[in-house]
Amino acid sequence: QMALQREFQHFMLKEIYEQPESIGRGVAQYVASLGSSAPSFHALPEANCFEEIQILACGTSLHAALVGQFVLEQVAQIPTRVRSASEFLAAPLPVTRQTLLIVVSQSGETADVLAAMRLANQQSSSGLAGFKVFAITNNSHSAIAQQADYERSVGAGVENSVAATKTFTAQLVLFYGLALAWGRQRDRIPDEQWVTWQSRMAALPSQVDQVLQQDDSIAAIARSLKHTNHIILLGTGINYPIALEGALKLKETTYTHAEGYAAGEFLHGSIALLDHTIPTIALCPTPPFRSDPSLENPPSEGGDQMLKVTQRIRRNGSDVIAIGGSEAAIALPLCDQLLSPFLTVIPLQLLAYHLAIARNIEVDRPRNITKSLNSF
Ligand code: AGP
Repeated sequence: QMALQREFQHFMLKEIYEQPESIGRGVAQYVASLGSSAPSFHALPEANCFEEIQILACGTSLHAALVGQFVLEQVAQIPTRVRSASEFLAAPLPVTRQTLLIVVSQSGETADVLAAMRLANQQSSSGLAGFKVFAITNNSHSAIAQQADYERSVGAGVENSVAATKTFTAQLVLFYGLALAWGRQRDRIPDEQWVTWQSRMAALPSQVDQVLQQDDSIAAIARSLKHTNHIILLGTGINYPIALEGALKLKETTYTHAEGYAAGEFLHGSIALLDHTIPTIALCPTPPFRSDPSLENPPSEGGDQMLKVTQRIRRNGSDVIAIGGSEAAIALPLCDQLLSPFLTVIPLQLLAYHLAIARNIEVDRPRNITKSLNSF
């Protein structure tokens, strides 16, 4: 509440601060009311109508899709594939009558997503009666929403900043709602777990708020990176897509060369890049060995792996900026690994914002890009 009364100089910061509210709204709409008669899930395909999911998206929406894939597979246990819409055009995935195709687009107008939908529909027109397209957008009137068999809006409200922030976390909420709804329908989520899920998701807005309260120290870290040309971001499991998203935010708003990697994979060659001029941001949401196993499926080794990788990087003489964990530069409230993306992404959004400001970049309108790539 306090946060929303602040004056914001830029849309990006305002939209970052709107997230406790937008996440809370999404949880109320797509998770808290989730039951057999939940209106939000009326007229959506039931879990027994499809055997696999394919998800197509671009940019930040693609990163939300990768987190979505994780929960659809690990929680609902539905085989799920994700591909960039532009790469789908180059190499379409075979669709079957048991495929549910989910397209994700904040604007609902991205040209590559529209073209990929057309291509998938052409493929399926040869007798795949069961094939359906489900659009997740932030605008139910958009072309993508209108052309799909099913559509839901993430309901984040208008996003003005070119860099997507609140719509990303709103997309996540919807994916979690779908994974929980379909997981329940498939008997993958027993009643006690379901109760835990609901209460943990209801706690997200206040946890996000706790992260936002560290804004001053995050801004100080951003200023310390003012002359840094390269940044590595590492995450594992469900936080690997968050490393990718953090890198995209840094590239688009600060023009820093930033790359996200899966932490273990980084050791297989790319670590040769590191020297004392290249800091590493490590996403370590749960302190090692203290992970709460109650929602985990399967149990996560992530904390342990992150600790090993960050120790190795420090030995190689590179600075590690840990987000969460026992050596955190930016602390996170304790939370379950599966829900941690909602918290780990916030400091990365703030870091990108403050570094852009430190470099006098027009943060809401970065060079070379537009809010939606609806033509070339
Ligand atoms: C997000 O910060 C970017 N501006 C960009 O990657 C964007 O997510 C991408 O172009 C997809 O847009 P859409 O979600 O509107 O389809």
